Amino acid sequence: MYWLGIDIGTGGTRAILVDDRGAVKAGFTAPHEDMIMQRPLWAEQRPENWWDAAQAAVRGVLHQAGIAGASVRAVGLSGQMHGLVILDAAGAVIRPSLIWCDQRSQPQVDSINQTIGAENVLAYTANPVLTGFTLPKLLWVRDHEPTRYARVRRVLLPKDYIRYRLTGAFASDVSDSSGAALFDVVHRRWSREMCEKLGIPAEWLPTVYESPEVTGTVSALAAGATGLPPGAPVVAGAGDQASSAVGNGIVEAGIVSCTLGTSGVVFAHTGTPAYDPLGRVHTFCHAVPGKWHVMGVTQGAGLSLQWFRNQLAPGMDYDALTAEAAQSPAGAHGLLWLPYLMGERTPHLDATARAAWVGLTAKHTRADMIRAILEGVSFSQNDCLRIIEDMGVPIRSVRVSGGGARSAFWRQMLADVFSKTVTTLETQEGSAYGAALLALSRETGSVEETCRLAIREVTRSEPASNHYQRAYETYRALYPALKPIYARL
Ligand code: XUL
Repeated sequence: MYWLGIDIGTGGTRAILVDDRGAVKAGFTAPHEDMIMQRPLWAEQRPENWWDAAQAAVRGVLHQAGIAGASVRAVGLSGQMHGLVILDAAGAVIRPSLIWCDQRSQPQVDSINQTIGAENVLAYTANPVLTGFTLPKLLWVRDHEPTRYARVRRVLLPKDYIRYRLTGAFASDVSDSSGAALFDVVHRRWSREMCEKLGIPAEWLPTVYESPEVTGTVSALAAGATGLPPGAPVVAGAGDQASSAVGNGIVEAGIVSCTLGTSGVVFAHTGTPAYDPLGRVHTFCHAVPGKWHVMGVTQGAGLSLQWFRNQLAPGMDYDALTAEAAQSPAGAHGLLWLPYLMGERTPHLDATARAAWVGLTAKHTRADMIRAILEGVSFSQNDCLRIIEDMGVPIRSVRVSGGGARSAFWRQMLADVFSKTVTTLETQEGSAYGAALLALSRETGSVEETCRLAIREVTRSEPASNHYQRAYETYRALYPALKPIYARL
């Protein structure tokens, strides 16, 4: 028998099949249409396109594994967080989804803070409300598209739309719901206060489950469309970060993950809902029942290197770029990089922050510029780690994954900057893998047990020196110095 994980990402939908030990049998990705970006800072996708991709990914992975759909025992879902999907009384999608990186809703964020009070928002939801979160996007539709808003009967997150198409159920899980700005993260339920004070009908919101719980079964219609067996249970699953954390085994205290994809995320498990009073890291429910997590986000992590390659080193691959960086010494001859290419979340929560090299001289080489980028991204992830550690979360070692984890050179740099042991895992499959492990957890009895069964560390880098200390301190001084300039750009 096999367990299926489906992750509704931004670029595509990925399906992964695992066996009863959590070993990957096959994986298949179906790409999405390009994001619709009608204006700067706007980002939309069509939920119907996600459903097309989900069907293609499931059919693709079954074909690749060479197995019949009937051998799929259960399905888990994961997905890009925070996106707004609105349905009418007939269950039809009313407009394209405003997705996680859409930043149009600052006026709605301001009005929520005015109506409710920023401290109350923190008390009700454990987080400040941010432009990326779901609620201000819903209020944007109310303010700008009243005819569409009048038709709203259901509000769903991206992966939960796929659940609706698979099972007919309106359901979500606690981790993904945590990023809606409408969720009482401490009590793991929708926030009555937020709904009442903002006039959001509670019946629009899906029923919420813990991540390994069954939310419904595959309908006959969806079985025909995907090749899955009718009646197969679909578990609640998780937002992509919590799901990826399950795939990285971040299900107990002491080990945190650092995922270097387009963005960089430092993620830690917590036994209680600890939150940063300044709201610089997100406090969300974990996919482990009854547990929470905190996470800090660098918006432009792998993106910094991708931007450099596309603009200044076209055709070079990432291995060649990191090899070139290794020709420059630690500290890159006094050159620093601020990775704020898409504003910044942790620690600044500032959409106006901008990227920069600081300290360039005529003597600097391209190797110095690349090294400065790797160091700047590492410093930014260290900012996330320090805040989490200052909250009292113990950190023994850091598991790195994502594209950035492929380079042994970058892993050693992270170990030195973090002053922590840095490890990598045998399976680097991310969110879809975590969703499959959540589905398997019904069999093993717990998410922790599934991770013990499935997850093995394969590399280890120990901190070797603290030669980044001075550069990190200088890096920290740059944002406050440049902040007045950002407003003028
Ligand atoms: C999490 C976040 C991203 C999105 C897209 O807060 O914004 O991880 O879920 O991947």
